[in-house]
Amino acid sequence: MISRLLRIKPMSMLTAEAGEQGEHTLKRSLGAVNLITLGIGAVIGAGIFVLTGQAAALYAGPAVALSFVLAGLTCAFAGLCYSEFASIIPIAGSAYTYGYATLGEFVAWIIGWDLVLEYAFGASTVASGWAGYLNSLLQQVGIVIPPQLTAIPGTALVKYHGMWGPVASLPPGVSDAGLPHATGFFNLIAILGVMAITTILVIGIKESANFNSAIVFIKLSVVGIFLVVGGYFLFRHPEVARANWHPFIPPKDAAGNFGWGGISKGASRIFFAYIGFDAVSTAAQEAKKPQRDMPIGILGSLLICTVLYILVSLVLTGLVPYQTLNVAAPVALGIDATGVSWGSMLVKIGAVFGLATVMLVMLLGQTRVFYSMSKDGLLWKWASAIHPRFRTPWITTIVFGFFAALFPALLPISRLADLVNIGTLLAFAIVCAGVWVLRVRHPEMHRPFKTPLVPLVPILGIVSALYLMSRLAAITWEVMIGWLIFGLIIYFTYSVKHSKVQQMKNAQAAD
Ligand code: ALA
Repeated sequence: MISRLLRIKPMSMLTAEAGEQGEHTLKRSLGAVNLITLGIGAVIGAGIFVLTGQAAALYAGPAVALSFVLAGLTCAFAGLCYSEFASIIPIAGSAYTYGYATLGEFVAWIIGWDLVLEYAFGASTVASGWAGYLNSLLQQVGIVIPPQLTAIPGTALVKYHGMWGPVASLPPGVSDAGLPHATGFFNLIAILGVMAITTILVIGIKESANFNSAIVFIKLSVVGIFLVVGGYFLFRHPEVARANWHPFIPPKDAAGNFGWGGISKGASRIFFAYIGFDAVSTAAQEAKKPQRDMPIGILGSLLICTVLYILVSLVLTGLVPYQTLNVAAPVALGIDATGVSWGSMLVKIGAVFGLATVMLVMLLGQTRVFYSMSKDGLLWKWASAIHPRFRTPWITTIVFGFFAALFPALLPISRLADLVNIGTLLAFAIVCAGVWVLRVRHPEMHRPFKTPLVPLVPILGIVSALYLMSRLAAITWEVMIGWLIFGLIIYFTYSVKHSKVQQMKNAQAAD
């Protein structure tokens, strides 16, 4: 049995499949800069546009900037390990593919199953943030959707300054007495958003490199304009920044938030903002010099995002009191404080376009992982069924589209983000451990990129990922464990019997 769990997918099989899917014909046209752009396109999203505000308001105050340092370090360790895997197996794939080729089927299964938390729930989280910005934009231009259809069930809503929003997001000291009230029923906007993305994925409109570059340009411009406008305002009014940044690390409260512990709690929430840099590794086959450029792409996009995130969080908490940032569109609120009238509209438009592409990348990633697992015989055949006309894995896309639409309609963004974070952190820890294990088991393997200081870097990666996981709520752990147990049941009742790799080994043994 143990040997079965450790069975490895041979490289020959991987390469043959890559050919089968026509991927051997992909042009090697991407250089280091293209790869960094690709990474930034997948990374900047709901994390910085929404969750930073929440983390500052609820956990860390202005010190959320330090949360970004902590989460960024965790990602850097994992990024170094990811780069080694991506260079050993330079074909399009995810952590699941790398795991299967090097660590064996069982670990690969856990990674693949766990990636559902990252990708499918990631799409849900971004959809929730996207809906918040779109709703805010629509209200700003006078289009008011019934507030009941813009929030999850039971949310107490209130109309303040002409805009509907949760009572909980009223600025401190403002009473809701006498204001119009409503109660959330479900988030229709998020459902419609995910439905639109699902349709695009089923029809199979290929996201072209130019389109991606345009969106990255929009996102970076919006972030840049926010930093320039906000930074200039703070430069002219240093007293505002001084007041808002004081105390930079608010004292710990009775619930254990704020203080030094609040920084790590904040990090476990805003970790979400970094997710996606591993998307670079999926372009390994299109890279001109994958060995050199993959690590540059992964680590370069990570570095640029870390710097931007720290700056945005500093400017944001400098512009407005951190207590007011627990709103759907915190970055727009921040730029509003500068008095630049077009600022918030611009931020909202940028966020609506920028977050939509992140949703697309996440849902696409999900369907690819399930497609690969199904092709390997580890999941049911329908998961890799291709639509005769559109040539896309349409059933998986629709199934996940359905769930990805349902969750943000019913659950708060914070819950969804925490689930994504725990799932991704677990995948990071496994990837880090995998690099180390593989060095010991197969020191002879050709490694075009080597993670430096093994085992120190993998150990730091594992420890930091586990530490951030430990800062997440018990309910998040319970759901993840439940999900993994559910996965193991499927693995032992279905996958072990249908594994293609095993069937191939049996056939070879019979010859
Ligand atoms: N990092 C991506 C985001 O923040 C997933 O939306």
